[in-house]
Amino acid sequence: MVAAIQEQAARLCSVSPALAVDVRSEAARLIAERAPGDLDVVFFTNGGAEANENAIRMARLHTGRHKVLAAYRSYHGATAGSIALTGEPRRWPSEPGLPGVVRYWGPYLYRSSFHATTEAEECERALAHLREVLMFEGAHTVAAIILEPVVGTNGILVPPDGYLAGVRAICDEFGIVMVADEVMAGFGRCGEWFAVDRWGVTPDLITFAKGVNSGYVPLGGVIISRAIAATFARQPFPGGLTYSGHPLACASAAASIRIFEDEGINQHARRIGDETIGPQLRDLAARHPSIGDVRGLGVFWAVELVRNRQTREPLVPFNAGGADAAPMAELSAALRANGVWPFTHFNRLHFVPPCNVSETEVAEGIAALDVALATADRYSRD
Ligand SMILES: Cc1ncc(COP(=O)(O)O)c(C=O)c1O
Repeated sequence: MVAAIQEQAARLCSVSPALAVDVRSEAARLIAERAPGDLDVVFFTNGGAEANENAIRMARLHTGRHKVLAAYRSYHGATAGSIALTGEPRRWPSEPGLPGVVRYWGPYLYRSSFHATTEAEECERALAHLREVLMFEGAHTVAAIILEPVVGTNGILVPPDGYLAGVRAICDEFGIVMVADEVMAGFGRCGEWFAVDRWGVTPDLITFAKGVNSGYVPLGGVIISRAIAATFARQPFPGGLTYSGHPLACASAAASIRIFEDEGINQHARRIGDETIGPQLRDLAARHPSIGDVRGLGVFWAVELVRNRQTREPLVPFNAGGADAAPMAELSAALRANGVWPFTHFNRLHFVPPCNVSETEVAEGIAALDVALATADRYSRD
């Protein structure tokens, strides 16, 4: 990775985005070849938020419609448009945001918005709810439905089988652009190049960043279907960024994708998730009453902490701060005392190591969690 960046730095560090560059074309080719279906064209950005901004602009121009449906449990970035798409509380201080954003509930069986008791029921009811939202909004006014195929920061919510295919069918029925935000879930995290590959679903646009080049140099982008690319062959896409397809970033993307393949990183992520992380987290759940739910895939996991397993009362309230958030702060402090820097969100602790994490490192993380969970167990009334 470092050699690829060094070599590119010696050849060409920066170039106008209007000029063709071999490394940009190469990075685009490698990404397009791995993207599902006819998603063959890549528009590069500097990160995930910009990728979503541009995807929404493409969907609006392609359809001539303006509304965008976005999930409540979502994070899409911190620019003006992307934070307006975001459903969680980081959006609140920037409201009113982009007009035309409409919210829906995605599937989340553990805290079902639809009183479902099985994955199949949750899937069916979440899709029926989406249809109902579209009926009241007027499906003909909706340009795009954006979703994280596996919701990241807002819960590591793995969709039930059939959900993404159902959204795909609804988008096809109403001529709506399906945008998969794979900024967090893509490039190995779910054990595949793209999370949608798990369910064999092809969106119209995929947004990416982070894992595309293992984060070595800022890079993101949108992978575009042939039909949408054809729109911008007829009328230019009125967008572009000075650093679009930056040579250093593209050189690192090409190197990263090749290394992923040479070292079997996606297969490793899938295997270590199935055989080590999942079983070990479930083993912790059997011993710690504060764990209400364990879910995830690949190297993308969360444990949801509760005060009571029967009622599922969260360990801390939604969006808690200050004294209300103390139980989670104590858990974080206990982990840090054991040399592990945790990622927590609301009442959840996320277990999201690098894609090339070793068995020993997973064991180290699990052991630290095992000790630290004693702090959360003290609040348990199970
Ligand atoms: C799903 C998702 N989309 C978009 C973003 C924003 O990406 P960036 O921070 O590169 O702008 C993030 C960042 O965490 C994300 O998780």
